[in-house]
Amino acid sequence: MTENWPTFRELLLPAVQDARGRRGNAVESALRDAIRSGRLAAHTRLPSSRDLAGQLGLARGTVKAVYEQLAAEGYLLARHGSGTRVAELGGGPALAVPEPGSPQRWRFDLRPGLPALAAFPRSEWLAVYKQALAELTDEELGYPDPAGHPALREELAGYLGRVRAVACPAGQILITNGAAEALSLIAGRLYVRGQRRIAVEDPSHTGQAELLAAKGLEPIGVPVDEDGIRVDELAKTGVRAVVVTSAHQFPLGVVLHPRRRHALLDWAREHDGLVIEDDYDAEHRYDRPALTALRSLDPERVAYVGSVSKVLAPAPRLGWLIPPAGLRDELVDAKRLHDLGCPSLPQAALARLLRTGGYDRHLRRTRKLYRARRDALVSALAEYLPQWRAVGVAAGLHVVVRLPSGLDDREVSRELASGGINAPALSGYAHSQPTFPGLVLGYAAIGQDRLRAAVREIAAITRRR
Ligand SMILES: Cc1ncc(COP(=O)(O)O)c(C=O)c1O
Repeated sequence: MTENWPTFRELLLPAVQDARGRRGNAVESALRDAIRSGRLAAHTRLPSSRDLAGQLGLARGTVKAVYEQLAAEGYLLARHGSGTRVAELGGGPALAVPEPGSPQRWRFDLRPGLPALAAFPRSEWLAVYKQALAELTDEELGYPDPAGHPALREELAGYLGRVRAVACPAGQILITNGAAEALSLIAGRLYVRGQRRIAVEDPSHTGQAELLAAKGLEPIGVPVDEDGIRVDELAKTGVRAVVVTSAHQFPLGVVLHPRRRHALLDWAREHDGLVIEDDYDAEHRYDRPALTALRSLDPERVAYVGSVSKVLAPAPRLGWLIPPAGLRDELVDAKRLHDLGCPSLPQAALARLLRTGGYDRHLRRTRKLYRARRDALVSALAEYLPQWRAVGVAAGLHVVVRLPSGLDDREVSRELASGGINAPALSGYAHSQPTFPGLVLGYAAIGQDRLRAAVREIAAITRRR
């Protein structure tokens, strides 16, 4: 599409003209920014390296190196015969995710956020799905209860009471399309009630902040230290709602200290505030005792959010929200007006999986698997990269590797990407200045030998710098 080419020149020439010295780096950054911001849409065809080099007055090799680097990071797709095109971005915070089936795949994909998808209990899910379908009455094939399938809410009330000490009647639970929809629904209600800002942990999941912003709430980052969110800093913001990952902070992996838990609830009571507890991976715990959910300490100040995404897989899109009693009816109404309720069949299947112990069995199996993988990753790091320190290792599906101070974690991440390793930089999750440079490494989906090989490779790549 030759008609695009003048745009490339307009887009990139200022970067080249402003660059002092490394003009290739300037073109690379400008191109990456244009793709990330959407100014260059997915599938847009790029000029050949020869043409672009001519337009910008650069050596062809410089432009080729830029294309190769951005292809390694997943921003571009180079296909023989059809040239270089802009890839569809997968939404990861620091690095793009290559399209499934695309020729460019990561040699080692260590991005956090996914359980072992290969361990999904396919045959058990199929069995409960079939049984659920056989048991659903004709009436239940009509429009669902917007609050959720009663059998699932009943099972969840039992499960969450047992596992997370969340005592609530089934009627208080609202079934959602993942934790994401739970958060969206609450954000929507806060907006309607006149709130325009909401606190989030800094660092935290960038997708979460995006989602809140899409609902009209400005996310305000509140720093997290080794004891979790700084409640003293939260109090200074003047906001009246905060999202916390108190059981296992994402991404730092710290637990909210009991003293802070009480301080946070005191803050909520004093400011008529709401704590949104994102309990996204609390079941994955290896070397420390379970801490009950915050919700169990004050049901009137805490909206509890959970989902199957880290236990089974994100694909079923099943989550739950337990709001304070005063918010329940308006949230059910919002859910009804949004989509008339979640699909009944997967809900009935999950209810059955919970009732028959399949969910617990799967957790027991995967907990063992993840612990072994976590151990393999941590011991490989100690062996090959002893100057890097893994933190937040006692729970969850990822670790944060603290890099020696002075290193630029984005640069390290980029270098690894060019070697085919997806290892997001911690600073990609920061709202303000990151406290230390780090990499966020997910280990759940990778076998022990592959994890060792990945760390060996990371050590080899970073040694070259
Ligand atoms: C902090 C956090 N909360 C929640 C979720 C799960 O979202 P959902 O249940 O919508 O898949 C994730 C998944 O990446 C997450 O990282």
